[in-house]
Amino acid sequence: MTYDIKGKTAIVTGSARGIGKCICSDLLKKGANVVVSDTAEDVGNETTAEFQKEFGESRVVFIRCNVTKEEDLQNLYSKAIATFGYVDIVVNNAGILNEENWKLMMEINVTGLIRSCQLALDNMSTKNKGKGGVVVNLASVAGLMAGEGSKVYHASKHAVYGYTRSQYLTQGTDNVRFNCVCPFLVDTALAQDWDNSNRTFLTSDLIEKLKAHMLKTEDIAEAVIFLIEDESNAGKAYLVTPFQKWDYYEQPSVLPF
Ligand SMILES: NC(=O)c1ccc[n+]([C@@H]2O[C@H](COP(=O)([O-])OP(=O)(O)OC[C@H]3O[C@@H](n4cnc5c(N)ncnc54)[C@H](O)[C@@H]3O)[C@@H](O)[C@H]2O)c1
Repeated sequence: MTYDIKGKTAIVTGSARGIGKCICSDLLKKGANVVVSDTAEDVGNETTAEFQKEFGESRVVFIRCNVTKEEDLQNLYSKAIATFGYVDIVVNNAGILNEENWKLMMEINVTGLIRSCQLALDNMSTKNKGKGGVVVNLASVAGLMAGEGSKVYHASKHAVYGYTRSQYLTQGTDNVRFNCVCPFLVDTALAQDWDNSNRTFLTSDLIEKLKAHMLKTEDIAEAVIFLIEDESNAGKAYLVTPFQKWDYYEQPSVLPF
């Protein structure tokens, strides 16, 4: 079954630039109303103006939101609902890679993302008189493997993977599908931070080889749209790499029964 994006309302966090911006663009092309949201107000407003010119003023708004702030997240959901009537799709994309400021990184990549998922459920769950919906979380290949240069970033993305997969267990009663996308390196500002944090650990030859295989933001947006549209996607982790055909990441069960 195909979930029709046309006419739905989507919130994308951290979407002033990079992967989030590209996801907004694809959602708009599919006919959704979109809330662009970020801490970077100037870039967020520029991005929103760009989209309004292309897709119509009434279909896009910018709402400033720092995902580490409870009041900002509450305001994001309430303003989105006041503007468009309902929130159907949430893409928790905001994330940083900063090993030095690792506590902030955990607050953004993990705590802020989980709190946004909780608010999504509060508003969308049919148990709370919502109409159901879809949430896609930005994990990473870093959430599926170890990484010596950016250990806390890897831990944060393992958390996104674990939380998203665990939400699957209640999916049937909430009617909110949770999925995550796990991309390899993508050509954005964040990939530069990855490069810097790994310089002392990986040989520059290996870094250059890995960077020669960077994904484009369009690849990730395409994967996110697939996770939203194909209704069989629930509790899935979708691996997007330049080395193999994109596929679900399946962990072996550790339970003996
Ligand atoms: N670029 C990659 O190689 C790569 C690979 C796998 C996963 N990811 C994940 O994709 C997501 C997007 O990354 P990107 O590469 O587009 O990075 P980016 O740096 O280009 O964009 C991230 C956006 O998040 C915003 N942001 C930062 N802190 C915020 C906060 N507290 N609240 C709200 N917004 C905030 C930034 O202002 C920026 O606009 C991240 O979660 C990242 O971990 C990226």
